[in-house]
Amino acid sequence: MRELPDSATSVGFANPLEFLCGSHREIERYLSSLIRITEESRDGRIRERETFVRVLRQLSGIAFGHTVDEEESLFPRLRCTGRTEGEGALRRLETLEEEHGCADKAHGEVDRLARHWLASGQVPPAEANRLTALLTGLADLYRRHIQVEESDVFPQAARSLAPAVSAARTAKPSRVERSKGG
Ligand SMILES: [Fe+2]
Ligand SMILES: [Fe+2]
Repeated sequence: MRELPDSATSVGFANPLEFLCGSHREIERYLSSLIRITEESRDGRIRERETFVRVLRQLSGIAFGHTVDEEESLFPRLRCTGRTEGEGALRRLETLEEEHGCADKAHGEVDRLARHWLASGQVPPAEANRLTALLTGLADLYRRHIQVEESDVFPQAARSLAPAVSAARTAKPSRVERSKGG
């Protein structure tokens, strides 16, 4: 299981919640690039093929890692403290996990369609429409999802977990801190 303080601080962010917010910005940026390239490829030829492949890989990687960080590290910790914030906070985590599942299915279909495009070199109109629908659907899902996380869940985490995270970092410096001799 990934531990939030280590996985987050290992890439150089002082605050794990800032790291998660940074991942949100990357997910938004990658989705917006893929939507643009898909729209520009509607005449049947994939535009910016190398960028398309690179961004697709980056999006898959960051979305997967981000969900693991939340579901295996952040959310379980919040559940331990959630009762102090009420049942609503626990239900909110369940909804977010259901949305992770929906996003995961959509990412899988995006990857399958994109691989087919890249292998055939063609963009059939029906597949372009489907890919656009999947990507814009993902962008909408993430917009709502991220809004809840950043306005409700992360502030709750900052209130309830900050002392534990701070203690863990003091006891066990991150890889970045060790490499700096800190
Ligand atoms: Fe999430
Ligand atoms: Fe998130």
